Amino acid sequence: MLHPQATEISFKLNNGVSVPALGLGTASPADRFSETKEAVKAAIKAGYRHIDTAWCYGTEPYIGEALKELFQEGEIKRSDVFITTKVWPVYWDKVSKSLDESLERLGIDYVDMFLHHWPLCYAKVEDLVNGISDLARNPVDSMGNPVYDPKGDWLKTYMDMERIYLDPSDNRVRAIGVSNYPIEYLQKVLDTCKVKPVVNQIEMHPRLPQLELNKFCHDHDILLTAYSPLGSNGAPNIKLTLVQELAKKYSTSANDILISYHIRKGNLVIPRSLNPARIATNVGFVFLTKEDLEALDSVGKTDPYRYIDEDFAAVVPGFAGRDKVVG
Ligand SMILES: NC(=O)c1ccc[n+]([C@@H]2O[C@H](COP(=O)([O-])OP(=O)(O)OC[C@H]3O[C@@H](n4cnc5c(N)ncnc54)[C@H](OP(=O)(O)O)[C@@H]3O)[C@@H](O)[C@H]2O)c1
Repeated sequence: MLHPQATEISFKLNNGVSVPALGLGTASPADRFSETKEAVKAAIKAGYRHIDTAWCYGTEPYIGEALKELFQEGEIKRSDVFITTKVWPVYWDKVSKSLDESLERLGIDYVDMFLHHWPLCYAKVEDLVNGISDLARNPVDSMGNPVYDPKGDWLKTYMDMERIYLDPSDNRVRAIGVSNYPIEYLQKVLDTCKVKPVVNQIEMHPRLPQLELNKFCHDHDILLTAYSPLGSNGAPNIKLTLVQELAKKYSTSANDILISYHIRKGNLVIPRSLNPARIATNVGFVFLTKEDLEALDSVGKTDPYRYIDEDFAAVVPGFAGRDKVVG
């Protein structure tokens, strides 16, 4: 059977907007931010049409430089590429400002998808960020504990995003969604707000298959976006025995198996690489069978693991550390 490339597959969001299933992740290490520019250019040349970023990553300006050159070179036009950015918890009550800052850095006048990065509210604490006085991205007290805003209300952030989306005179976002939301938070949004999130972006891979969240989201017509699909830094999931066996069975790479696992379930996936040669080949798609998908799901039952273990996230139910993950 002839398979499409992962870059050729798109899904429809619940508001009718079309989204390429495969996106490039850009949470680059701080000392390699500038390499994001060439990574984005390599991705577009390899057929990617979806770039995932966030206000807090520090990579938006480099994505902006890449887009500017790609537009000037005639490689793509703005409407050919789907751009996602996110509002970070220090700006939980400054959603419009966050969006404007992201747009300015990206050099574009709208984003295709705007996500609430984490359902929590940080205090605003001045600090040095990359040598410049700015709001601390992850404010901590003298003991190193996260400092939250006592007046914070995570739902307000989503409601402010909703206001922007619903305002007919405001064309800055084409779709809104969330990230790192457990079921009870999604339920609160569904019960309280007018606009259903189009996606929930979460850590997801065979060691963390998130089966309950998948069922809940698909039952409510919310897509999932899998972050850290390769297991984050160093791509440890590539070494998983079952992933290697499936790669052999289908004469393909472990990367293709890890990516196809999500796309075959109707979800989006955003692997990161700064290596242009890898980016060019990280686009294969395999039509994994139902049995393959079930076998991959079961890896998380015997060997569960969360790679992105953020101290600050412990206030969100279900994110209380990698040792608490159950399959
Ligand atoms: N919403 C959230 O809270 C959240 C949290 C985390 C991540 N994200 C998003 O999800 C994206 C992806 O997650 P991630 O960055 O944690 O990690 P990831 O995509 O799971 O893995 C990235 C690592 O895999 C390596 N890699 C990529 N392709 C490879 C290949 N074919 N063979 C071997 N190694 C390979 C990369 O190294 P090279 O660069 O050397 O190729 C890098 O070290 C992020 O960049 C970000 O956009 C969102």
